[in-house]
Amino acid sequence: MLRVRLPTLALLLLFSLTFTANASAFPQRFKEAPQFYNSPDCPSFDRHDPDSESDGDDHTIIFCSDQAVHVAMTLDTAYIRGSMAAILSVLQHSSCPQNIAFHFVASASANASFLRATISSSFPYLKFRVYTFDDSSVSRLISTSIRSALDCPLNYARSYLANILPLCVRRVVYLDSDLVLVDDIAKLAATPLGEKSVLAAPEYCNANFTSYFTPTFWSNPSLSLTFADKQACYFNTGVMVIDLYGWRAGDYTSKIEDWMELQKRMRIYELGSLPPFLLVFAGNIVPVDHRWNQHGLGGDNFRGLCRNLHPGPVSLLHWSGKGKPWARLDANRPCPLDTLWAPYDLLQTPFVLDS
Ligand SMILES: *[C@@H]1O[C@H](CO)[C@@H](O)[C@H](O)[C@H]1NC(C)=O
Ligand SMILES: *[C@@H]1O[C@H](CO)[C@@H](O)[C@H](O)[C@H]1NC(C)=O
Repeated sequence: MLRVRLPTLALLLLFSLTFTANASAFPQRFKEAPQFYNSPDCPSFDRHDPDSESDGDDHTIIFCSDQAVHVAMTLDTAYIRGSMAAILSVLQHSSCPQNIAFHFVASASANASFLRATISSSFPYLKFRVYTFDDSSVSRLISTSIRSALDCPLNYARSYLANILPLCVRRVVYLDSDLVLVDDIAKLAATPLGEKSVLAAPEYCNANFTSYFTPTFWSNPSLSLTFADKQACYFNTGVMVIDLYGWRAGDYTSKIEDWMELQKRMRIYELGSLPPFLLVFAGNIVPVDHRWNQHGLGGDNFRGLCRNLHPGPVSLLHWSGKGKPWARLDANRPCPLDTLWAPYDLLQTPFVLDS
């Protein structure tokens, strides 16, 4: 903990104000989160399970266990503050926090040992692994979208989880980095997927589905038939429960890539990684209660307006859209709901005046 005397504080303040525009100019330091413990009725992992593919301590066993809740998130320096808050929120509201295995995906060009060290220092007890994602393989498939932040290859890592995570992981909850949970993730992870579906997510059938694809798409007779025989609804890809066994069996990664190849040849949609998901899965997903993705809190993509919650209960708040709560809080221009993100912020401010 860094403590400073007041004259120095004034100077530092001046200095930090000059640099807030570019947070990466300062290496961000994060506080240590408290340790979270399982409640007594949580399942424990049997070390001698003959079906287990792994041996060794709990940390190894949990990564293949169906009893664990597997969470996948991407990790990079630009969004790490959001990721830290998301992790803290997952642990804090979980009744079995020690049974959660985190699978972090980082770009192959990122410093994975730095990311690993950052996570470990804030969450010394966290069960996690960091995988690297070869973004060059997807870069060639990315067409520029109307929001450049969406063109980052890591944004597409969610389409490759079945290749990146260990083969023994059956089910995973994918989470974006700009969200916090206020409910037990085990409830979301337990969503029944049934025999036919490989993906569950909240879906929105009142959203104008037409607007996610270009007139080129809708005017093409064979393409527009994609949704002909199903009730296709919009869903947000920031919160998904995925059956990785079923995903691999259906080779959905290739199906998504096929649409991305087509997009390179003829522009069939405007936004980044979402439309290929809709093309492959819309109409075939298991709907999850809307409380699990109160999305759009980042605001309007063009003007950055504040958004309100959708009606109904809330289990997960998602700042999808252009604005991010940490940036607005730093700039002293928070939206009203950003104050709900702030309690999960682990950023260590450079001057701590309390003991
Ligand atoms: C990566 O991070 C580690 C640990 O924080 C650091 O020691 C190392 O110098 C970094 N490597 C590069 C290439 O920046
Ligand atoms: C949906 O969006 C399309 C294209 O953006 C528009 O032409 C159509 O009128 C919209 N439909 C409704 C019901 O708003």
